[in-house]
Amino acid sequence: MASPLASKISPAFAHIMLLLFLLLILALMVMTEAVPHHHASVRSQAAALLQWKSNMQGNTATPVLSSWRPDIHPCNWTGIACDYVKRQHALRVLSITSITLEGTGLVGRLDTLDLLSLPDITSLDLSNNSGLSGEIPPSIGSLKMLSNLNLSGGRLEGIIPSTVGNLTMVRGMCLNNNWLSGPIPEEFGKLSFLLHLDISCNILPGAIPASIENLTSLSYLSLSSNNLTGPIPKEIGSLEHLVYLDVAHNILTGFIPSTIVNLAGLQNLILKVNHIGGTALDKVEHLFNLQVLNIHHNAFIGSIPSSLMNLFGL
Ligand SMILES: *[C@@H]1O[C@H](CO)[C@@H](O)[C@H](O)[C@H]1NC(C)=O
Ligand SMILES: *[C@@H]1O[C@H](CO)[C@@H](O)[C@H](O)[C@H]1NC(C)=O
Ligand SMILES: *[C@@H]1O[C@H](CO)[C@@H](O)[C@H](O)[C@H]1NC(C)=O
Ligand SMILES: *[C@@H]1O[C@H](CO)[C@@H](O)[C@H](O)[C@H]1NC(C)=O
Ligand SMILES: *[C@@H]1O[C@H](CO)[C@@H](O)[C@H](O)[C@H]1NC(C)=O
Ligand SMILES: *[C@@H]1O[C@H](CO)[C@@H](O)[C@H](O)[C@H]1NC(C)=O
Repeated sequence: MASPLASKISPAFAHIMLLLFLLLILALMVMTEAVPHHHASVRSQAAALLQWKSNMQGNTATPVLSSWRPDIHPCNWTGIACDYVKRQHALRVLSITSITLEGTGLVGRLDTLDLLSLPDITSLDLSNNSGLSGEIPPSIGSLKMLSNLNLSGGRLEGIIPSTVGNLTMVRGMCLNNNWLSGPIPEEFGKLSFLLHLDISCNILPGAIPASIENLTSLSYLSLSSNNLTGPIPKEIGSLEHLVYLDVAHNILTGFIPSTIVNLAGLQNLILKVNHIGGTALDKVEHLFNLQVLNIHHNAFIGSIPSSLMNLFGL
């Protein structure tokens, strides 16, 4: 039995609907075909890397980049990994997804790498290259897929650009052991997936931003050996998953915030060589998982015997 609605649909209307449906299918087919074209920029991604290489000082002398040549497929270059899709029994390259040149002795500037040409990078590891110089370009924020960023152990200078706040997928970020200056950007507070943050051993001035309260996944935080001032913000108490906290060798003042007792899983608390005052034991005695407490060279009053100041297995 035909419904009243169906009986109102004329054959002509049905034909038009069928035609539109077929057109939609056709459009979808064209679009899926078009996806690889969108990614066909592997060539332009490779061009950006070759350009970076050509800007490197004595680039011909950087042996690790000897495979970076136009006649070799970029996915076979040292340190480069790609994303593939299987098509008609053949692998088709979609995009360059990671750059790993850790400890390879490269000598060059980070800011001559055109990051805008590498939108699909999930991991960028240029760590442990003392010849890596220049600034962290604001375009770092365009790497929307980035999950791992390791630029430690170079001689990067300038500020940490506020666009790091765009790296919302990032889980590990190591910018430690460089010459970075300028305050810690408040935008770090947008990185709610961050598990590991190390910005130690730079010359970062200013306060620890209260926005760190948003880094609720964080388990490792090192801000040591900078030029940080002001108190440890009470917002630190929001970092419930923190296992390791190191703010040693700064110019921090104030007291240990009472919110520290929320850090139930904390195993390492390293505050040494600052100007932190007040009492310490009444707070840390609630940290039942603490294994390392290092608070010497501060302005604490009272009751922690010096024998406990560097403590293992509390
Ligand atoms: C990389 O090199 C291997 C071995 O030489 C080759 O089989 C493969 O096709 C190359 N990959 C690309 C994407 O050209
Ligand atoms: C850095 O790289 C050098 C080789 O260039 C290596 O000997 C050293 O162990 C590396 N350091 C770290 C921290 O990985
Ligand atoms: C970052 O790189 C350094 C030096 O290569 C390495 O020791 C460290 O483990 C890396 N950090 C992470 C989180 O992988
Ligand atoms: C960062 O994100 C903001 C807002 O989403 C956007 O306007 C800006 O262009 C982004 N910056 C970069 C470098 O991607
Ligand atoms: C902290 O997270 C909240 C909620 O996601 C957001 O509205 C706020 O802007 C974040 N704060 C900072 C400083 O990024
Ligand atoms: C660190 O801070 C102190 C006092 O605020 C200042 O005198 C010194 O120049 C700073 N050091 C660096 C390397 O910026």
